[in-house]
Amino acid sequence: MLFKTIVGAVATAATCLGASLDRVFFFGQNPTNIRMYIYVPDNLAPNPAIIVALHPCGGSARQWFDGTNLPSYADSNGFILIYPSTPNQSNCWDVQNPDSLTHGRGGDALGVVSMVNYAIDRHGADRARVYVMGFSSGGMMTNVLAGSYPDVFEAGAAYSGVPHACFFGARSAMPFSINQTCAQGLQKPAQEWGNFVRNSYPGYAGRRPRMQITHGLADSLVRPQCGYEALKQWSDVLGVAFTRNVTGVPSTEWTQQVYGDGTQLQGFFGEGVGHLPSVNEAQLLRWFGLIN
Ligand SMILES: *[C@@H]1O[C@H](CO)[C@@H](O)[C@H](O)[C@H]1NC(C)=O
Ligand SMILES: *[C@@H]1O[C@H](CO)[C@@H](O)[C@H](O)[C@H]1NC(C)=O
Ligand SMILES: *[C@@H]1O[C@H](CO)[C@@H](O)[C@H](O)[C@H]1NC(C)=O
Repeated sequence: MLFKTIVGAVATAATCLGASLDRVFFFGQNPTNIRMYIYVPDNLAPNPAIIVALHPCGGSARQWFDGTNLPSYADSNGFILIYPSTPNQSNCWDVQNPDSLTHGRGGDALGVVSMVNYAIDRHGADRARVYVMGFSSGGMMTNVLAGSYPDVFEAGAAYSGVPHACFFGARSAMPFSINQTCAQGLQKPAQEWGNFVRNSYPGYAGRRPRMQITHGLADSLVRPQCGYEALKQWSDVLGVAFTRNVTGVPSTEWTQQVYGDGTQLQGFFGEGVGHLPSVNEAQLLRWFGLIN
């Protein structure tokens, strides 16, 4: 406890007041030795929701904590933020790892799920309101987690990511690695993408996470086609068909793609937007149902 307090104090020396981003050392099964950081706001809501926020390649918990305004929303709304952090593969998540692509088998995915269970037990969080979001490698991992652990996540939001299992068969999951097959826009029929998700947890018949997919149309590192492919995948898994495009949502350069009635699946594609963490926090939190 004392150790944790000291580490937390060091990590936030610049801010001084209020809650801090704290490292948790022992949180359960963690086969790939990834790291857990947590932000528990001072005015924690009763039975709080949890958002898992996943950093990009080369990132860290601290970098992604500073990368969006989610911490200030946590302060005002009382939800918990978990920032997993990976020291491996140039700080990229292991989205190519068959262990992460399989329910309960291992990989970074199992470590992240252990963090969620730890936060539920330790802070009385609401098991029915656990969300995941991430950018780039974190967006890819968002789709991996939503596919392999549909029983854990109520909804997900992937920014500049790729479909679940897009990197399956690749030796590394760095978008700038020598194998560009996935990140340059690997296409498969919707049902084939859907089968990857279903096969990651054979026999699972429960509800699936609602998904929001955001991608810049000028992204050359992870091509926008990857966003379209992710929509095809979730469209098949969730059983909702494309309904309509809505231009100018949430702002001029963006087009919203609505599937079904829009409550299960939607996409956002930004004209002239490159490989950027285009997180609109208010829109994200409305998607998760955490603000009105
Ligand atoms: C990840 O990095 C940690 C710390 O260096 C190490 O202990 C662990 O074995 C690595 N995991 C993998 C799968 O490479
Ligand atoms: C490159 O990655 C794709 C999946 O993204 C995989 O199917 C393919 O086998 C990989 N190629 C090589 C040479 O490893
Ligand atoms: C919706 O927008 C996408 C590109 O963002 C386009 O490929 C598709 O044709 C559009 N569909 C309709 C019905 O306008």
